[in-house]
Amino acid sequence: MKDSPSPAFAQLANAFTRRRSNHDRKLPPGPEGLPLLGSMVDVRTDALSMFERGRREHGDTVRYRFGPFDMVAIHRPQDIRTVLLERADDFHKSPTYQGLELVVGKGLLTSEDQFWRRQRKLMTPAFHHKRLLGFCDHMVRCSTELADEWDELVANHRGAQLPIVDLHTQLLSLTFRIVGLTLFSTELSDKAGDMGPALATVLEHANHLAVSMLLVPPPWVPTPRNLRFKAAMQVVDDVVQGIITERRNSREDTGDLLSMLMAATDETGQIRMSDRELRDEVATLVLAGHETTAQALTWTFMLLSRHPVIERRVVAEIRAVCGDRPPSMEDLAALDYTGRVIDEAMRLYPPAWLIERQALVDLELDGYSIPAGTLVAISPWTIHRHPAHWPNPEGFDPDRFLPETVAARPRYTYLPFGGGPRQCIGVNFALYEAKLVLATLLQRFSVELVSGQDLSLEAAVTLRPAHGMKMWLRSRA
Ligand code: HEM
Repeated sequence: MKDSPSPAFAQLANAFTRRRSNHDRKLPPGPEGLPLLGSMVDVRTDALSMFERGRREHGDTVRYRFGPFDMVAIHRPQDIRTVLLERADDFHKSPTYQGLELVVGKGLLTSEDQFWRRQRKLMTPAFHHKRLLGFCDHMVRCSTELADEWDELVANHRGAQLPIVDLHTQLLSLTFRIVGLTLFSTELSDKAGDMGPALATVLEHANHLAVSMLLVPPPWVPTPRNLRFKAAMQVVDDVVQGIITERRNSREDTGDLLSMLMAATDETGQIRMSDRELRDEVATLVLAGHETTAQALTWTFMLLSRHPVIERRVVAEIRAVCGDRPPSMEDLAALDYTGRVIDEAMRLYPPAWLIERQALVDLELDGYSIPAGTLVAISPWTIHRHPAHWPNPEGFDPDRFLPETVAARPRYTYLPFGGGPRQCIGVNFALYEAKLVLATLLQRFSVELVSGQDLSLEAAVTLRPAHGMKMWLRSRA
């Protein structure tokens, strides 16, 4: 049988054809970049600065060339609304999500059209407010156990200085555990054995693919990197399959998301999700559900450590609302300032720093032609710093999120969770979790940035500290 060209190859060929027919259209302005490569080197070395510089120098609609691909970054709220909401059906996720797809398959994050609609409908009830409230106990218990571990660390610490933890790693483990317990009633870290390092390898590879714009050897070429990824993926797959098989064998309905997915049928009431489909959704939720929230929390702690006055105000609120008992779901509404601090941290450090689409049809945005096939970039990093909507954009000021101030700003100027039909399904899950974790840990500890460390950013699938985040731990007891 004749091999058909790979999707990446077909995309390259299409991109060349489109490039030839672009001369008679009004295309957005943008940097020339290097011959042939365009802005490829810039996006790989410092994408955040590239997008900021592009907006400053060329305006709200900027065209970048990446080899054969054209990418248009948009910043006007009305255009973002068009792409994410009004004409959402005229876009697919961009091919740069293919790296992620190697990891999560065709789960909710990466699937399209009919299949995506079915899965989204199926999963939405699992994220209903009432159900989420039931998860709050797990969130607090896991955070309390981490605080207990920190207590022990402080108690056993010898030496003149305070004990140090890598807060980023610790928060990744914490949110990983919470997702396992809440959505799959599973202690992932027990089952996982080697899952932690394997997941880190898998994620690192997905990140690598995302920033390399697909111009890397395809997965079947046995490069050391591809082989490492394959081995790690096998470990992750075995764990996920183990969870599914165990649940199938026990026939127990625990009422969690996995039970809902297993019980769901199509319109005929006959066809259930295959093990492969279940695996993709489980992997998607484990990944999407822990990475992002851990980044949001890490950046929040970093900002609080740099802004002691704001930190004192958060701690005072936690004391006033919870006293000495651990926070609970009843406190969520009253932890109002804490919520604004998290919102503002996600403005400055949006965990999902780039949302990408590919146009399926020719269209116009901001008076410019956007030919079918163009990649459209929506960068919360840049949009959240747009001086037209955010005075003193680099300043950390949680009161930007007072209700009356929010009401006065146009929508689609703040989009840490995206927007339109593909908006994050876990938005409330994440916000409840972030509040409860922050309140539980801050109630008992203050964390201070260890001085002199390299806090460079890594803008991969999520926005993370490139070298972890070391913090001195000080018990409030
Ligand atoms: C602070 C934490 C989080 C942030 C910043 C975040 C951000 C986002 C963003 C921006 C999108 C849209 C991507 C796009 O349009 O291309 C998204 C989608 C998604 N998120 Fe989140 N997320 C967070 C937490 C969570 C949690 C806790 C879960 C699950 C437990 C989750 C599950 C998902 C899923 C499944 C999708 C795909 C939805 C769809 O396409 O229907 N996320 N997230």
